[in-house]
Amino acid sequence: MRNVVASRPSIPVAVVIVMGVLLAQPRPAFTQSAPAPTAPAQAAQSRSAPAAGANAYATAAQCGTCHQAIYRYWSDSPHARAATSPVYRAALEAAVAGAADAAAARRQCVWCHAPTALVTGDWEMQRPITRDGITCDFCHTVESVVMDKEDYPFVLVPGNVKFGPYEYAKSVGHETAYSPLHRASPLLCASCHEYTNAQGVAVLSTYSEWKAGPYPARGVPCQDCHMALVPGATAKDSVKGDTLRVVNLHRLVGGSARGQLDRGLDLKIESVTRAGGTASVLVTVKNVAAGHSVPGGLSSKSLILAVGTQSRDGRFEHRQERIYRRDLKDAQGQIIKGVAGLFLQAASVGQDNRIKPLETRSERFEVPIPEGAMAIAARLEYRDASDPSAEPGVILITEKAWELSKR
Ligand code: HEC
Ligand code: HEC
Ligand code: HEC
Ligand code: HEC
Ligand code: HEC
Repeated sequence: MRNVVASRPSIPVAVVIVMGVLLAQPRPAFTQSAPAPTAPAQAAQSRSAPAAGANAYATAAQCGTCHQAIYRYWSDSPHARAATSPVYRAALEAAVAGAADAAAARRQCVWCHAPTALVTGDWEMQRPITRDGITCDFCHTVESVVMDKEDYPFVLVPGNVKFGPYEYAKSVGHETAYSPLHRASPLLCASCHEYTNAQGVAVLSTYSEWKAGPYPARGVPCQDCHMALVPGATAKDSVKGDTLRVVNLHRLVGGSARGQLDRGLDLKIESVTRAGGTASVLVTVKNVAAGHSVPGGLSSKSLILAVGTQSRDGRFEHRQERIYRRDLKDAQGQIIKGVAGLFLQAASVGQDNRIKPLETRSERFEVPIPEGAMAIAARLEYRDASDPSAEPGVILITEKAWELSKR
């Protein structure tokens, strides 16, 4: 479907898939050597010199004057909050407070959460553009990504040329250049969602998990699942009369959204065998649609499978759990709790029993069945402990029941 979009016939809204995960036909697998119809570097250099200094980038609100639909979606995204969320600010202050070189410590976090600072130098995050976090003009002026580059993984060409997924695009607002990196490469995302710290521990390993799984061979990059086509105009009509009626979703939610989690996982009670006062319950959890291990991202997250009985008045009793997570340990072998510590102190990886792409996990539970129990119940929950000042947020992803009376 995206191939069709790139050569631009009109797309009936009926075929638009809203926020799906197993969606568009696979694109051709991206290879770094794939030739771009317009070489972005050349285009950038011939048309305008890269902007530098404090005013190199336009704010999201400025882009949003024409790209209204995309701006609305982005405004509601974790990317838009990456520099300002209270949880991040608190972790940043913790990282800076404990450091010998405060300015260097700040840069260690800010380059990724507010990456325009790499060019503007606004490491204190005083300017609106910096507080935009992962903003439009940053992503759309990344010319290429080089993962093992020494300082940071981007080649940046801020300026009037915006790199995007369309070959045809013509804009009154700025020049455009077709970019296979944006249209179909996981490297644009890997630049920030894969991170190895000073001790050599992969604090973020989303990209390498994706790479080791089945999706690269199917030609399904991050964008296919996280940036589905949704209704909306690429730019407002007054600047572009025949603008497309679909945009790639820029809200980019992950585990923080129940819908995305629910689509990603399949929970089944396979069998319940009763003997005396207990039931032997076999439950399976399958990672049906996440392109990486679940839970993904930072190891402050856990996936919990809980099995128990359901009483006549709906209470969940005799709860037993299996917890899926990845532990990072400090130099003393202690499991690290705070997010700043994950980045700065992780010295080794402890257990990692998360569920890999398309993997099915079978678990057996022995559940006591009290008098009057109505059903065996199984739940999947997602727990995020990124905020140390609050109880970990728990989201109920899905629940299944096996009626005891009927069988
Ligand atoms: C004056 C209006 C206007 C402003 C301001 C504007 N754009 Fe655009 N932009 C357009 C139009 C029109 C198109 C073409 C849309 C189409 O072809 O459907 C476009 C296309 C694009 C594309 C697609 C390019 C491609 O080749 O795939 C990207 C990416 C983009 N804009 C990013 C931005 C960013 C980032 C900003 C802010 C720095 C911005 N735009 C500001 C009008 C604008
Ligand atoms: C410049 C760095 C950067 C780039 C590039 C980037 N991200 Fe992110 N992303 C972040 C940061 C930082 C956060 C966390 C924001 C927060 O919650 O504070 C995040 C959050 C997310 C989340 C939400 C996670 C959750 O817990 O809900 C998703 C999904 C995501 N990014 C996907 C992507 C995809 C897909 C791409 C590529 C198209 C991408 N990101 C490119 C830095 C980046
Ligand atoms: C995390 C990086 C990232 C950020 C931040 C981001 N974009 Fe995009 N944008 C992309 C990618 C990747 C695509 C192509 C997706 C695809 O083809 O599947 C895209 C596509 C586009 C397009 C082409 C039309 C479309 O829907 O595909 C426009 C226009 C655009 N973005 C404008 C914006 C504007 C305006 C903002 C800020 C309000 C913004 N982008 C923020 C990565 C980003
Ligand atoms: C096949 C579809 C698919 C692909 C491909 C995919 N994801 Fe995801 N992603 C999901 C689903 C579904 C979830 C929600 C389940 C979860 O939390 O892990 C998710 C969750 C996330 C999260 C939040 C993790 C959490 O648990 O809070 C991040 C960050 C993320 N993805 C980034 C990426 C990046 C970066 C890539 C590419 C390297 C990528 N994803 C590829 C489907 C996909
Ligand atoms: C290489 C990029 C990168 C660097 C460097 C980085 N982060 Fe992050 N950070 C991310 C991404 C990506 C996420 C989202 C991961 C997920 O979904 O689990 C995130 C999430 C977070 C979160 C939880 C999200 C929220 O706002 O609720 C906090 C807190 C955080 N980072 C703090 C820090 C601190 C403090 C530092 C410096 C010590 C730092 N980060 C360095 C990429 C980075």
